[in-house]
Amino acid sequence: MVEKADLFKNGKRLDGRGPMDLRPLKITAGVLDRAQGSALVEWGRNKVLAAVYGPHEVLPKHLADPPKAIINARYIMAPFSGQEEHGRSGPNRRSIEISKVAKHVFENAVLVDQFPKTMIDVHMEVLQSDGGTRVAGITAGAVALADAGIPLRDLPVGLSAGLIGEHMVLDLDKYEDNLGDSDMPMVILPRTGEILLSQMDGMLSRDDISKAFDMIFQGAQKVRDKQIEALRQSYERMAAQAQQGENNQ
Ligand code: CDP
Repeated sequence: MVEKADLFKNGKRLDGRGPMDLRPLKITAGVLDRAQGSALVEWGRNKVLAAVYGPHEVLPKHLADPPKAIINARYIMAPFSGQEEHGRSGPNRRSIEISKVAKHVFENAVLVDQFPKTMIDVHMEVLQSDGGTRVAGITAGAVALADAGIPLRDLPVGLSAGLIGEHMVLDLDKYEDNLGDSDMPMVILPRTGEILLSQMDGMLSRDDISKAFDMIFQGAQKVRDKQIEALRQSYERMAAQAQQGENNQ
């Protein structure tokens, strides 16, 4: 049984990480054949799959927004994704809230006015959860959007920071999220430095928030590098397949 006192000892966290260390992060783009864009984010023990469809026609038509695309974001946890779940599935208050904030993130990142009267769906399915799934989901959704060829102002990056006692740490896992003092998930656009999402659970002082912001902006660069690398590898695979197709003709 893990207790709060176990979370931070001698400068190290329970899993051996220092305060600034991220959990192992692997991002793979283009993992689904049927979706226009997709990405799998494996982040610590989190596994989140994102798929993008669109831009497509809005039905019923009167719901369409004449000057721009509507983003339809859906975050959902699979019934087998967490230890505490008991096979219950479907949207709940938490997943509806996360879907709503994700929608706002993507609306502010996608160049929506390039696709008037259309809709773009971003599905984020949490297959396995261990703290930080909303930021993992949005990070995956961003890669899936880029993989679908949808133009973005920049790739949104999600990352959280939080306090364990007096120690501010980056990328909280589930124990740290549940037993720690506070946590702050954020989504930023690293290129412009804009903050697209900032939520807070618990209490943080002004100085704490400032420190959390600095740590998140620094750590986000590592996440962004993985996003870009995943997209590069996906493009290379597609180019190789296209070449193979031509050679076979
Ligand atoms: O996942 P995130 O940190 O964005 O959201 P949270 O509401 O702070 O949840 C923290 C963690 O608690 C999740 O990542 C899951 O590991 C776990 N959780 C769960 O297993 N089942 C839920 N219905 C809600 C949370």
